[in-house]
Amino acid sequence: MCGIVGYIGDRNVYDVLIKGLHRLEYRGYDSAGVALETPEGVLNVYKAKGKVSNLENFCKDKDLQASCGIAHTRWATHGEPSDVNAHPHFSDDRKLAIVHNGTIENYQILKDALIQHGCRFHSETDTEVLVQLIEYIKLKNNCQLIDAVREALNQVQGAYAIAVIEAGNPHQIIAARKSSPLVIGIGNDEFFLASDATPIVEFTKEVVYVKDNEIAILRRGEPMKLVTLSNEEVSIDVTALELSISQLEKGGYPHFMLKEIFEQPVTLRDCIRGRVIEGGKSILLNGVRDHKDKFINAKRIVIVACGTSWHAALIGKYLIQEMCDVPVNVEYASEFRYNHPVLEEGDVVIAISQSGETADTLAAIEIARDKGAFVYGISNVVGSSIPRATHSGTYIHVGPEIGVASTKAFTGQVMVLTLLAIAVGELRGTLTKEQIAEYGKEINAIPDLVKQVLKLDEQIKHLSAIYTYARNFLYLGRGYSYPAALEGALKLKEISYIHAEGYPAAEMKHGPIALIDAEMPSVIVAPYDHLYEKIVSNVQQVKSRGGSIIAIVTEGDTVISNIADHVLEVPKVPEWLTPIITSIPMQLLSYYIAINKGKDVDMPRNLAKSVTVE
Ligand code: M6R
Repeated sequence: MCGIVGYIGDRNVYDVLIKGLHRLEYRGYDSAGVALETPEGVLNVYKAKGKVSNLENFCKDKDLQASCGIAHTRWATHGEPSDVNAHPHFSDDRKLAIVHNGTIENYQILKDALIQHGCRFHSETDTEVLVQLIEYIKLKNNCQLIDAVREALNQVQGAYAIAVIEAGNPHQIIAARKSSPLVIGIGNDEFFLASDATPIVEFTKEVVYVKDNEIAILRRGEPMKLVTLSNEEVSIDVTALELSISQLEKGGYPHFMLKEIFEQPVTLRDCIRGRVIEGGKSILLNGVRDHKDKFINAKRIVIVACGTSWHAALIGKYLIQEMCDVPVNVEYASEFRYNHPVLEEGDVVIAISQSGETADTLAAIEIARDKGAFVYGISNVVGSSIPRATHSGTYIHVGPEIGVASTKAFTGQVMVLTLLAIAVGELRGTLTKEQIAEYGKEINAIPDLVKQVLKLDEQIKHLSAIYTYARNFLYLGRGYSYPAALEGALKLKEISYIHAEGYPAAEMKHGPIALIDAEMPSVIVAPYDHLYEKIVSNVQQVKSRGGSIIAIVTEGDTVISNIADHVLEVPKVPEWLTPIITSIPMQLLSYYIAINKGKDVDMPRNLAKSVTVE
């Protein structure tokens, strides 16, 4: 949600910032802007509504020389997407420029007070309030920028990652964070800063993850300094980045989303690597092994997540209940944080988040910790906030996911939950050695089976043409295929803007069946499992009401294949592995329908990859 970049050093500042904005554009693309400070200390701000390419066009004839600069790509919260609401924002005397990711909750109170003091506002944003406040404090106290930033942040409620530069001081950037990610890259007499490491990796592998309530002072020719909001200096913890540039490029695919769908045989292999051990006879998750007692003694497991991660969580519930015989509740993190969650000692809370930055999930973790629960994180982004806020956890290791619609992260999350269920089942003695050995073999076979499923690509491309102009879709499934159907529906609506509703197939007769007619296609997820006979009846119920059906079935299926209009066959796997296999044709179907409709699949309207606001 919003991306910020900053640079101070000898390179072409504008080029570093623009490249960085392109890398961060998945975080928001309502508007973009740069603030550049010339070596003489003159501050210029350029901004444009829309994508980063609009900003580049706007900057073509501008003075772009600079010693330092900050930049921003926006996902609008306060104020519509427009040139004037775009960041960076100037202070009233145009001496300071700020970029900000997050929301200032008490901005209205602060704004009213500043207006009383004669401040004039130009935008509708909460960010402008912060920069005006910093300026006001700086002038009133006649102090240095760092002191004014510190005092201002002490008055602010909300979430922020900010970077501020000051006219007349072309070799300094002040940056700070609270509940919004901020990474500093340390180069050779140069500093980079960004919302995540993607704009930095091409220049340096040495990074510092700024923690909440810390302010970074980046001055050319001096070592980086970190102070707290109460002005105590903190030590700098430099981490080596494991990211590579090739992971951030499209690698010949027209879109990140398609690349990420096709990467799944490899990402699933990476996710499994080192975890299915002893030739498949045991599952090793360090995060579980190191906290055995918590999982052995758990009376209940609560899983919190949002969006696609919440769908993975539902699959996790089915897996853990089946394999570990322990009750599991799945909650939307945004509801959990406000529904007075009742947690007891001995409860384990699992938080799932691709980005590791989702504000609601972070808040849910905080509540769970406060109530004494043991919190386990499942995340993709190494060094992000959620892995740092949890007691233990597992990375899904699927590499950077850039497409806004989650694909490979979903299958990675489901795979980690599968491994976790088996590891915990082993610890609790609810699975036998023979079962575990059998499961290990089945898991090891998955990457190759996913490769096989991807061969449906051409068939799905053709099929998509038939359904591109449907206005509504129903996605149905039972058991493990129910959350898979929910995820299929979410994928379609996110990128094609077609209304799609996921439903448990048996619930359909309690209401949604009224919607079915020739205009309402249903995608029915019906692999061969213990509910197969039941879903056959649901397929017939749809057919007899004139609805057309795309069925995802197990290879060799003869019953549903004879009823459905179109059939996508996937290889046979045990039912607890079906969601990984059946979700892939649905990812491809959504992709091709969106492409046929001319939509921007990597940057769908109104969305952002990482949702760091409430
Ligand atoms: O980073 P997270 O997994 O916490 O993100 C949660 C949701 O915002 C995310 O899954 C969202 O629903 C995606 N756009 C789904 O494709």
